[in-house]
Amino acid sequence: MTFSAPGSRIASKLGLSDRIFAGPRSRRLLATVESGLERVDEALARELVMADSLANATSRYLYDAGGKRVRPMLTLLTSQLGEGPTDKVIDGATALEMTHLGSLYHDDVMDAADKRRGVPAAHEVWGNNIAILTGDLLFSRASQIMARHGEAAIRLQADTFERLVIGQMHETVGPQDGDDRVEFYLQVLADKTGSLIAAAAQTGCVFAGGPVEFEAPLKTFGEKVGVAFQLLDDVIDLSADADETGKVPGTDLRAGVPTMPYLVLSERTDAASIGLRERIDAGVASISDGEDPAILDGALAELRDHEATQATLDLAYSWSNEAIAALDPLPDGAVREALMRFARAVVDRSR
Ligand code: IPE
Ligand code: IPE
Ligand code: MG
Ligand code: MG
Repeated sequence: MTFSAPGSRIASKLGLSDRIFAGPRSRRLLATVESGLERVDEALARELVMADSLANATSRYLYDAGGKRVRPMLTLLTSQLGEGPTDKVIDGATALEMTHLGSLYHDDVMDAADKRRGVPAAHEVWGNNIAILTGDLLFSRASQIMARHGEAAIRLQADTFERLVIGQMHETVGPQDGDDRVEFYLQVLADKTGSLIAAAAQTGCVFAGGPVEFEAPLKTFGEKVGVAFQLLDDVIDLSADADETGKVPGTDLRAGVPTMPYLVLSERTDAASIGLRERIDAGVASISDGEDPAILDGALAELRDHEATQATLDLAYSWSNEAIAALDPLPDGAVREALMRFARAVVDRSR
């Protein structure tokens, strides 16, 4: 089978589809999800058209660069608990992916990230202001799509976006006196990433008129998968090959954004761990004074091989297991099986 939509192509490249839809009873489900992803991609391309030529170019930029389409995949999957991928479901998936896309423009400005999806980050091409405004445009378009489906749809979008923003804000401000740093960080992950993945899982079932009693379990599932996904990202970030991830390894840490391996390292009291932490802190301080970010290469390689990174991986597995446990109320069947495989694939990926 060949896929024309960039989303499905990339999901296949990462082996996600193969892993999630293993087994005979998943074949038909895979075909439905793949054709749904193509419809979402067509909708994204259509909804991203802007009358202004600069806005049109900047809005399409990260869409054209690729992406795994994890959120629409979840929406399409859970829609099978109801009527399947109706036009309303496609709109919901499109609006949530558009929200995700907009958040990437903003996130790269905040994180001073140079690359996204294998291409220079939007702010590297057009500057911060245009990158921020492009994210705003995409959020507006996402709201317009949701507004077609009434108050409940727009509320879901708004509530999700509010939580995502609060997560980003808490990450920016950092923990306050008395906050447990690990707990604080997990809450940031649940808010900035779990919220949108939860909404994606919820939306499929709700927009397809599926049973109301599945809504809460799907939301919990999505949120926990989101946290597991981010924890794995923290691990991958330390070992990543820039060509494979489309990002420079250690980008967040070098910019002084503490990730889970660093936080766990900070809890360790042996001399080697304290020494490594001090070298990372000193490197981050010099980088912010203009030093070449490569000065942290050695320390980040040590952190990758440190027990703190293994502990982060273990934590990712426990969140993935909790996500799977949240699916208990769902009927045994192809959808539940695919969601379980998805939760496992998130933590089993090596990139
Ligand atoms: C990256 O998400 C940003 C996070 C919220 C972790 P994805 O890994 O889903 O990004 P794309 O869509 O595949 O580029
Ligand atoms: C991105 O989080 C979260 C949102 C876009 C809301 P990160 O900053 O941790 O993700 P990457 O590593 O840039 O994809
Ligand atoms: Mg980032
Ligand atoms: Mg960020």
